[in-house]
Amino acid sequence: MTNGRCVRHGLRVHSTAPETPPPVTSSLSSPPRTDPAAALRSVKRVLVLRYSQSGQLDEVAEQIAAPLRADPSIQVHEETLRPQKPYPFPWPFLTFFDAFPESAHMKPQPLAPLSLTGEEDFDLIVLPYQVWFLAPSQPVAAFLKHPVAARLLKGKPVVTVIACRNMWLLAHEKLKGMLDDVGARLIDNVVLTDPGPTLATFFTTPAWLIWGRKRGFWGMPDAGLSTRQIRGTARFGRALRDALHSGQERGTQPLLAGLGAVRADAKLLISEKAGTRSFYLWGKLIMAAGGPGAWQRKPLLLLYVLFLIALIVTVVPVSLTLQALLRPLFRGWLTKMTAQFECPSGSATDRTALYDN
Ligand SMILES: Cc1cc2nc3c(=O)[nH]c(=O)nc-3n(C[C@H](O)[C@H](O)[C@H](O)COP(=O)(O)O)c2cc1C
Repeated sequence: MTNGRCVRHGLRVHSTAPETPPPVTSSLSSPPRTDPAAALRSVKRVLVLRYSQSGQLDEVAEQIAAPLRADPSIQVHEETLRPQKPYPFPWPFLTFFDAFPESAHMKPQPLAPLSLTGEEDFDLIVLPYQVWFLAPSQPVAAFLKHPVAARLLKGKPVVTVIACRNMWLLAHEKLKGMLDDVGARLIDNVVLTDPGPTLATFFTTPAWLIWGRKRGFWGMPDAGLSTRQIRGTARFGRALRDALHSGQERGTQPLLAGLGAVRADAKLLISEKAGTRSFYLWGKLIMAAGGPGAWQRKPLLLLYVLFLIALIVTVVPVSLTLQALLRPLFRGWLTKMTAQFECPSGSATDRTALYDN
């Protein structure tokens, strides 16, 4: 269990949080906040980004936003990301796989114009995102690469909230890189993963995303998060509300420590690395054949699907079995990786009772 105290080793770990709170900029619509007491009294502004295909991530964002919205001393701006060309849901089979090259290479399709100009001054940004092909979903990546985001996020504390099947470790490394690029401060990370066993979710998640079948089959559990998991995320909204009241977002410590924000499964790292490498190489080849939707990509995509199935039925179980057998040798490494990926919010639950209701 980690408590939010972060260490740096191995993979690139985001830690751009300055030692002192960032300078607060003023704007016409927000009075200057040079006096810390005044800063504590003033209305706090929170930006909540939203994008969801099935509604799952939207429900999570709603649970977190509701306690903030209900507080008269907090102003919430919700910005729904709208891809210029909406992604279908459920996805036609080949369209689903056609999204992988640009997702893996983080070359997202553009968004429709945002309602934000970049001049707004937020105290906190809540950035929920889903994972697509081991990378942040294209709409979220498109937002982070948008010039407006660069202005909005510079120096600002960001709380990321991931809801995905269960492979998010390397996607989060990529997202941290994008936050670094715009000079944002990652202050917390909440992760919600589908509760079913990893191997079962390789079947149930595609059945949900491609055929729209959310109910479990062949004895496997339902796809997606449970209602209990989603409802439970309201605790993060309540804790953020209290942290904003006391101005903690201006500091460098996580606001959501002690709330069971994230449990990392570092055992999946090897499979994620193999998957990322293959997405990258095949993605390059497929992008060379044409743009998204081009017919020339289809034969290559079909070939890749076969390769991917082989990867899932070989690399994932083999790597999980080998790791189970060699666990005593890898224990130190796994503990180190787990602690690293659970940064900054940690898996400790000592404050959960305070915010559960
Ligand atoms: C194109 C695509 C690729 C996905 N790839 C991954 C993945 O690599 N790892 C993962 O854990 N979940 C993956 N998922 C599941 C999503 O992260 C998410 O749980 C699901 O799409 C529901 O999100 P929604 O709220 O947008 O409906 C993928 C979903 C889609 C649509």
